[in-house]
Amino acid sequence: MKLTQEQKKFVEDLLSRMTLDEKIGQMNQESPSIVGGFDVPFSELIEMLTDGRISQEEFGRLMATAKQDFHEDDIRAGLVSSVMCNDPRQNNALQKIAVEESRLGIPLIVGFDVIHGFRSVFPIAIAEACSFDDALFEDTARMAAKESRAHGINWNFAPMIDAARDARWGRVSEGPGEDPLLGSRFARAKIRGLQNDTSSLKNYVAACTKHYVAYGACEGGRDYNTTSMSDSQLYNVYLPAFRAAMEEGAATVMAAFNDLNGIPCTVNEWLLRGILKGEMGLEGFVVSDANAIRECVNHGIAADDRDAGIQAALAGMDMDMGTHIYKDYLKEAVQKGVVPMKVIDEAVRRILSVKVWLGLFENPYVPEADIEAYEKGLPAEHIALCKKAAGESMVLLKNEGGVLPLSRKQKISLVGTLADNAEEVCGAWAMAWKKEDCVSIRAGLEATGADVSYYPCGGPEGEIDFDEADRACADADVIVAVVGETDAMSGEASSKTDITLPGGQRELLSYLLNSGKPVVTVLMNGRPLALGWEAEALPVILEAWHLGIRMGDAVAAALLGDITPSGKLSSSFPAVSGQCPVYYNHPSTGRPGSKSKFTSRYLDAPWEAVFPFGHGLSYTSFAYRDLSVRETEDNLEISVYLKNTGEREGTEIVQLYTRDVAASLVRPVKELKDYCRVSLTPGEEREVRFTLPKKSLGFYNNDGCYCVEDGEFRVFVGGSSKDTLEQSVTLSF
Ligand code: NOJ
Repeated sequence: MKLTQEQKKFVEDLLSRMTLDEKIGQMNQESPSIVGGFDVPFSELIEMLTDGRISQEEFGRLMATAKQDFHEDDIRAGLVSSVMCNDPRQNNALQKIAVEESRLGIPLIVGFDVIHGFRSVFPIAIAEACSFDDALFEDTARMAAKESRAHGINWNFAPMIDAARDARWGRVSEGPGEDPLLGSRFARAKIRGLQNDTSSLKNYVAACTKHYVAYGACEGGRDYNTTSMSDSQLYNVYLPAFRAAMEEGAATVMAAFNDLNGIPCTVNEWLLRGILKGEMGLEGFVVSDANAIRECVNHGIAADDRDAGIQAALAGMDMDMGTHIYKDYLKEAVQKGVVPMKVIDEAVRRILSVKVWLGLFENPYVPEADIEAYEKGLPAEHIALCKKAAGESMVLLKNEGGVLPLSRKQKISLVGTLADNAEEVCGAWAMAWKKEDCVSIRAGLEATGADVSYYPCGGPEGEIDFDEADRACADADVIVAVVGETDAMSGEASSKTDITLPGGQRELLSYLLNSGKPVVTVLMNGRPLALGWEAEALPVILEAWHLGIRMGDAVAAALLGDITPSGKLSSSFPAVSGQCPVYYNHPSTGRPGSKSKFTSRYLDAPWEAVFPFGHGLSYTSFAYRDLSVRETEDNLEISVYLKNTGEREGTEIVQLYTRDVAASLVRPVKELKDYCRVSLTPGEEREVRFTLPKKSLGFYNNDGCYCVEDGEFRVFVGGSSKDTLEQSVTLSF
């Protein structure tokens, strides 16, 4: 996000003409609230229902009589900076009030959760990250930007780039997984896709990188919970993706709900002013998460709303999402000298700068023609990108006996209620999909002309119908069982202690296996599942996640071999839930887990992931040979030969890892440093090269300083974090 001198002057001029009320208004975001005897935001109403403060009946009654309040009077009075709404005509109407009826005509910045696509819903982020395809990350973001902008949304609450290593946390679904390097490349690509095509106002939005910071480290995987860690851990694992996003010019950041080492991120001056705005150079603004300023009272860091608002403003929180606390208390705080005017001016300058950069002053409206164009349906190239993204995001975990791909001659019994549910394909945080665009696995398979019969048998919820399972087995050459989680089982407020397949699905799989017919298991889920039993018992497992609107097409294409799976896991999968958190790049211990008793292990479960980070098979096979590492002045030049040793064309994701053998701080056993996608025809061999800057072998110490230390480094290259060739190199800097 870069402003011209002229644009900067425009912002300063506007700022100089604003009253204190108008300035504070720019720091206020409103979500549509429900009125009708109940003046609370919709999100809170849902919470009240969930936590039992109101009954289902009362909720129903309120919803039936309520109308949405878009705060038109406050917008008119210049007291609202931003709203959240995805109705394009409503957005035009609200902009009209802001631009034509407020004193200074400052347009609204319209935010929305466009996390993995808008109407074109792409795979959930943990799945898309399995493609290790930076160009794809960027393309899907660019398309999401265009679609949202055509609906009057100019600010996407994405990308979510929280490193997440504990699969109990439901929000692992929303981000790119456990690795800081993959997370950083994902972040960069998403920012480029959302923001960089400024050739037309229709093509870009402001990104909102979230949740700053360490939200993924919430204790025990419990959402909204406390986080506690050393500064080196923060700097090396949780900050890199944010640093990458800032380097790429991310316009805004959303602070996380959690406290970090005792200070909630919402009021954490060190994190907001010190690191984010100071060290990492955020040019735009920071917004709180929903209701988070008020939650500082619950955290016990603020005495009341007023105190929370003052602390947040002083810490550098520029915009309040949804509490009115700034609106209600900041004016008095400024007048009493508790909050200096320069704090307010800084926040407003940042917010106005983003609005100017978005071109909202030139054109705040969505043309009616653009709205109508989307009402006609999704353009073909949007559907094509949804299919491509879904195709690249699947991970073939196991394929014993080469059961996959299936032949079109085989009689397929398709089993599992998830297989026939077009509403479940999008996963968590998809809010603009239309049923007519969504393809279930059943519909996808049927559309190929394959010989497929469907037997629901049961799913993640409810009873299993074993009689129906008998019929499915009797009828089949091969059984394709779709099992996993509903979309509501991951995402926000969806932490779990037991992450094995829910309901009776294991029993169902076991029953199907006993038939003696080949069973292909397709997983549809929003988090790594505990797959110890499945990895042992099931011959074939295709991890398909929640792949977005064209899930059915992509899964059918993979099952029938029209595409060859190439995804690699962006997160490690445990054998049992109690192993969480399990991740490949863990710090070296004094007693690495092994078969010996007095090592870092469990008595009753493996110490390693059952499917590690980076794992993923193909319908062809690949062989690596001749890893070489050559030192130049600034870089390590690394080369390896990769051959397609199978009978199909395929794409391998080649992964480069390193290990710092002895350092002044305990370092991870392995760290991903680079990756690339290589497509080879059968028998083809190619040299794959990486140039690794030597300075990237350093790390942050506990003072937040980056250091690169002399000594031995191991270099690993291979097709997963576990299966690699290895070389050593000794460096002095
Ligand atoms: C809460 C979530 O934590 C955040 O990710 C989301 O963007 C906001 N609410 C707005 O919906």
